[in-house]
Amino acid sequence: MPRYLLTAALPYANGPVHIGHLAGCYLPADVYHRYLRAKGEDVILICGTDEHGVAITLQARKEGVHPRDLVDRNHAIIRDALKGIGVEFTHFSRTSGAAHHREATAFFEVLHRGGFLREEVTRQFYDNAAQQFLADRYIVGTCPHCAFDGAYGDQCEKCGTSLSPDELLQPRSVLSGTEPVIRETNNWFLPMDELLQHPTFVEYTQRIQGWKSNVRGQFMSWVQQGLQPRSMTRDLDWGVPVPLQGAEGKVLYVWFDAPIGYISATREYFESQGEPDRWEDYWKNPDTRLIHFIGKDNIVFHTLIFPMMLAAHGSYVLPWQVPANEFLNLEGRKISTSRGWAVWLHEYLQEMSGREDELRYTLLANLPETKDADFSWQDFQLRVNSELVAILGNFINRVVVLTHKLNEGRCGPLVAMEVPKVGSAEQILHDALALTRSEILEAMEQFRLREALAGVIHLSRLGNRYLAETEPWKLLKTDPEAALGVLRTGAEVAAELCIALEPFLPHAAKRLSAQLNWVPSEEQRLAWWQGLAKSVYLQTGHPLAPPTLLFTPIEDATIQERLAKLQAMESNSTESQASSQPGSSSPSTAETGKVQPTQEPSMVAFEDFATMDLRLVEILDAKPVAGADKLLEIRVDLGSEQRTVVSGIAQHFAPDELKGCQVLMLTNLAPRKIRGVESRGMLLLAQNSDGKLILVGPQGPGTAPGDQVR
Ligand code: MF3
Ligand code: ZN
Repeated sequence: MPRYLLTAALPYANGPVHIGHLAGCYLPADVYHRYLRAKGEDVILICGTDEHGVAITLQARKEGVHPRDLVDRNHAIIRDALKGIGVEFTHFSRTSGAAHHREATAFFEVLHRGGFLREEVTRQFYDNAAQQFLADRYIVGTCPHCAFDGAYGDQCEKCGTSLSPDELLQPRSVLSGTEPVIRETNNWFLPMDELLQHPTFVEYTQRIQGWKSNVRGQFMSWVQQGLQPRSMTRDLDWGVPVPLQGAEGKVLYVWFDAPIGYISATREYFESQGEPDRWEDYWKNPDTRLIHFIGKDNIVFHTLIFPMMLAAHGSYVLPWQVPANEFLNLEGRKISTSRGWAVWLHEYLQEMSGREDELRYTLLANLPETKDADFSWQDFQLRVNSELVAILGNFINRVVVLTHKLNEGRCGPLVAMEVPKVGSAEQILHDALALTRSEILEAMEQFRLREALAGVIHLSRLGNRYLAETEPWKLLKTDPEAALGVLRTGAEVAAELCIALEPFLPHAAKRLSAQLNWVPSEEQRLAWWQGLAKSVYLQTGHPLAPPTLLFTPIEDATIQERLAKLQAMESNSTESQASSQPGSSSPSTAETGKVQPTQEPSMVAFEDFATMDLRLVEILDAKPVAGADKLLEIRVDLGSEQRTVVSGIAQHFAPDELKGCQVLMLTNLAPRKIRGVESRGMLLLAQNSDGKLILVGPQGPGTAPGDQVR
């Protein structure tokens, strides 16, 4: 019998998880885990937070905290939120733990000893002021494609182009704002070109033929592009240290250590269970089916790089399936955490408490399985009200209410269904249920979860149709016995729904179970999910609980609130405000002279404010910048030094007018070149309702250039 090892992509602990992550991999992994468990398979689901890498150090820097504090906080938020939405992991670990560090170190050493990690000297950007090598994300500059002056060294977020840092025009370091220099450094490379021929890897690629086409397609295109050796180490001070001589200040590349997290977490779990060797059953036995649930941006790592690492290591199984999903959009736009365009899971759980399965349902019914999908609050309302309430909930409610009305809530004898008469409503129901069941099971086997869920909802639709046909509310008066038979048949379908709903909507399945006053037995569950002959669930005379609603409708006002919140988050986000992000150089009001739309200001932590060095300066001289009718090149006195700033105020002041004025300046704004002139600082001006700019300066005498703002 196969053994299943399921993994869900380790979420980055640089922030909480949102609905895109849920739809990408956490819900599918949870549904599949629950499905295999219900079917009686030997299965575990492993996950944890991914706590290393530049995404973490950059975010920590932005928040002014140590990476350790950031990951501690987000680990707890993510763990609790996933639990809250009902995602059940066998174990949820984290990569900054000692056990993981040991595992990743040992893995690296095995590859190194085996000759699979080659040391190479490369040229890398270095920040002289900060005395540190710079990861691509630590370099910003002007995009060579769209001229956006806030592009990162790995990608321009404006036009989406992938970049390498040497393509940036006017590159500068996020750390110090200075222009980085090139330095040589040594790192260790995985020879992906050679590993493509590794027998274990080659054997593994046979399986890919049966995978989803979006996954196969990405895999093939990477292979056809030709693979290069890829560095598995980084010059960074946060991560798993490279366990080699001469590797001080270097850590394992986060995409090297993170997937090893699947192994270390499995091991940690069985150790905690007092079975310290059992992890090997899952990782070393060829009967294991290793299935990675991931989103589309993780495909190359899970179909190429990690399998190559596993092949090179030699002791572990390679993936059996990688059912990756595409992206989920939000209200027709790409989810963007930096632009505040997201629905955060932990916030949803707080604000829509008790409605866990409504979100699960909407996302699962809409999974981006074959192409990108869209989540909208309107669709959420529509699906809840017209499917969960009007079809599923309504069916259950009719059965329970009528059974109470007719027979004090007690189930009648199972006459109609046992030997359904040919052509009877019961026989039609019987056949339709059987067909739908087999469709559900087939869809599950092929990872078509949304289709399987649609099948489950269809079971309740069939129940509704049956009631509409037999009209027990009429029979009630004319033929109470027949009415009782019909309701009993309905109650059997309701009980079946309890089993079928569980992997998808576990909260609702529990409520339904309480409503029916009945819990499916282990065998009943196994039989249903294995597609074996259906058993009888309820006893004659079984008492149902008093009627309650399985789902309640979502009001329009709730949807309005959700939409308003989304809008507010977007306008409060850092990227939609002028130059509030450290290192970003989106032009400020004074530099461009552009009027920004008024926005609700977001709160700034005192620590953030304290990072700004604001001083009084005296303007010594000002002159127009050639070829730019809005810009002035201004020489200022800071008391201790003189500086040049370029400011977009030429249409508001004649150069001579400015001479001798005292004005407030942000002195530690990252320097930037504007029209070939390096600007080091930003003058602060107020803009009145007519759009006119006024210098912000002291109100009284006794100030001097260099005076600090307190
Ligand atoms: N942290 C990555 C992301 O969120 C996923 C890591 S998956 C692992 O995209 F395999 F590396 F663990
Ligand atoms: Zn661009």
